[in-house]
Amino acid sequence: MKAIVTTAYRPTEALKKKAEKVARNLAIPFFERNKRSIDKLHEELGCDVLVAAKERLEFYPLGKTEPFFFHPNSSAFRTKRPIADDPLIEVSGLQSGDSFVDCTLGMASDAIVASQWVGEKGTIVGCESHSIIAYVIEQGLAGYEKMPHLNEAMRRIQVIHMEALAYLSTLPDNSVDVVYMDPMFTEEIRESSNFLPLRKTANTGQLTQAWIDQAVRAARKSVVLKAHFRSGDFETFGFQRRVRPNTKFHYGVIDCQAEKLRND
Ligand SMILES: C[S@@+](CC[C@H](N)C(=O)[O-])C[C@H]1O[C@@H](n2cnc3c(N)ncnc32)[C@H](O)[C@@H]1O
Repeated sequence: MKAIVTTAYRPTEALKKKAEKVARNLAIPFFERNKRSIDKLHEELGCDVLVAAKERLEFYPLGKTEPFFFHPNSSAFRTKRPIADDPLIEVSGLQSGDSFVDCTLGMASDAIVASQWVGEKGTIVGCESHSIIAYVIEQGLAGYEKMPHLNEAMRRIQVIHMEALAYLSTLPDNSVDVVYMDPMFTEEIRESSNFLPLRKTANTGQLTQAWIDQAVRAARKSVVLKAHFRSGDFETFGFQRRVRPNTKFHYGVIDCQAEKLRND
């Protein structure tokens, strides 16, 4: 058993029903909470624990007592500044009405910024290979209401529970505007505190040439990589690095039109 679902510490009948539904959706077992602490559940069951709480789902990977849950995270403040100046938007060339594939959805902060920017005519797909992360984020994007200015942008994101390379391989050539990838950093970084409980649980796989090739094939405008400033991936995979002084991560971009002309 890899994961189970339970309720908050003092469950109502409604919460129990919610937890049972989550268990069915994810095809994982439901366990009564019976006033056990998260530590105790981890110790007794030896697996990750997903808690159906009143307002949100909380994910406790085995050994972690801090939960992972959906929250707009950095998109909350990034969408209050001029979005055209956001480094992801600036380097990608993404425009209103465009389509954007986020290969590594995570908390969906970057996807929310992109979604706010492309607007109602745009489309946003977010790929997440970890089933529980994908589910927690999908539910959060569908129901979160504390930042009404982001409601539309959050609802527009289509969450796909799939490995990015497998998803990109299903796309026709030149069928989306921008493909984005933000794999887990191999360096310790405290950039996103809500993501910390997942450091060892999320997909920590790194870039491959096959992944880049599929992204370039599918994208009309650009492929964008976010990585630690010490990462050699920008140079290894042909990204033009956009240095951001005094920041721990940089963006890199492949101009897909130029790349395709070069290879013709
Ligand atoms: C660093 S986080 C991304 C954070 C995200 N950009 C945000 O704004 O919250 C990386 C996420 O991508 C997922 N991931 C990593 N490699 C993946 C792959 N090849 N396919 C799909 N998901 C992947 C991880 O499980 C993790 O949730």
